[in-house]
Amino acid sequence: MTIAAVDYDGLIPNNVALGQDVRVKRALEKWHPGYINWWKDMGPEGFQESLVYLRTAVSVDPKGWAKFDYVRMPEYRWGVLLAPQMEGRKIPFGRHKGEDAWQEVPGEYRAMLRRLIVIQGDTEPASVEQQRHLGKTAPSLYDLRNLFQVNVEEGRHLWAMVYLLQKYFGTDGREEAEALLQRRSGDADTPRMLGAFNEKTPDWLSFFMFTYFTDRDGKMQLEALAQSGFDPLSRTCRFMLTEEAHHMFVGETGVTRVIQRTCEAMKEAGITDPYDIAKVRQLGVIDLPTIQKKANLHFSLTLDLFGNEISTNAANAFHAGIKGRYRENRLDDDHQLESNTYPVLRLIDGKIQNEDAPALSALNMRLRDDYVADCNVGVGRWNKVIESFGIPFEIKLPHVAFHRHIGEFSKIKADVRGNVLSDAEWSNQRGDYLPSDEDRDFIESLMQPQYEAGKFASWIAPPKVGIDNKPGEFEYVKIA
Ligand SMILES: [Fe+2]
Ligand SMILES: [Fe+2]
Repeated sequence: MTIAAVDYDGLIPNNVALGQDVRVKRALEKWHPGYINWWKDMGPEGFQESLVYLRTAVSVDPKGWAKFDYVRMPEYRWGVLLAPQMEGRKIPFGRHKGEDAWQEVPGEYRAMLRRLIVIQGDTEPASVEQQRHLGKTAPSLYDLRNLFQVNVEEGRHLWAMVYLLQKYFGTDGREEAEALLQRRSGDADTPRMLGAFNEKTPDWLSFFMFTYFTDRDGKMQLEALAQSGFDPLSRTCRFMLTEEAHHMFVGETGVTRVIQRTCEAMKEAGITDPYDIAKVRQLGVIDLPTIQKKANLHFSLTLDLFGNEISTNAANAFHAGIKGRYRENRLDDDHQLESNTYPVLRLIDGKIQNEDAPALSALNMRLRDDYVADCNVGVGRWNKVIESFGIPFEIKLPHVAFHRHIGEFSKIKADVRGNVLSDAEWSNQRGDYLPSDEDRDFIESLMQPQYEAGKFASWIAPPKVGIDNKPGEFEYVKIA
């Protein structure tokens, strides 16, 4: 049976016939107050009473699944939404390729599946925690609304993973669902599970970089899990991806608008040298070299999320039919990879070079390569904006060996071009590649709120079009 319409009658909106699943319905209703408490404690600070113009999913139909209206965030209808079941779906890869997709968890893969779901689930509330102070310095009501849209949807993604835990993993699923509300981003004792989700998001340029680079890691992971032979996970991730697209839109257009404003201000002031940082900063905009440093930081932190280049866990998850490759269904090979190889960038005798590895062991590397290619598309669009102003500057993603804490290159220091550096060289050059305290202070000095409808802070251009086609002066958030 396929169910596309969402049932909004009960406490928990859903399209999984929760009304007929008493045990899971009760478990989720029991989990609900803890979630709301978490949202009130760790969600957007200072705006819980404000009316926000948000989209809420009313169906999972790719055409027209959302409805826009003013909502107080704690009253947002978080729910459980899965993409429709595909009749006769088969496991698309691994040793079970061609068998019927699993509707229940296969016993032998239970622990592996639970772990993948918990890791994905943990990132969702983490980013809400990381972004909770940003409302206080929003550059416009438009941006404030986008921040909150991303936040409520990350909350919904937590619901998505918690549903799977509660429905398919019994007592340990329930315990994991509780633990997801207990960990805190950046906490010394109970941190979130992955490094990038314990970093600070101190300013709006960081927020845009985070949604561009780190939410895009989320997209890659969801794409890989959407291929899963465990059908409920696949369906969950497929719907999450439709929401995720907006998060990356916020990141890409956010950075574009920052670049646009910088270039406009430089042009108006007759500044042609992008490295004349002091002069550019006097205009109240963020100089391009600092934007590059922020990109270097967020890109390198996000690369760590792909894990070790050579990974037995990744091989096992693929072999088992649990986690596929990026757009597995569009790839043209045997989808089992038992005798294939894949080139992996490694550190060999102190040099960075490619080495062929068994394709199964190299799946993290492969997903990371797909990720880098995807990142470069938007970077190209940023450069088009700079080019249109005739400013001699190009944003470039740093080498994958730059500033790494996990995997092959965590043992070395490298510059943005991938040259291996001594510790002394690294400490000398670090400030050229990553934001310095001074850069951070400057950006922070620009972070003054602009809550007047239709107005924007000095350092960012207005968007080309409004959300839901609203006009420029639309009041996206009614601040209470
Ligand atoms: Fe998410
Ligand atoms: Fe996201």
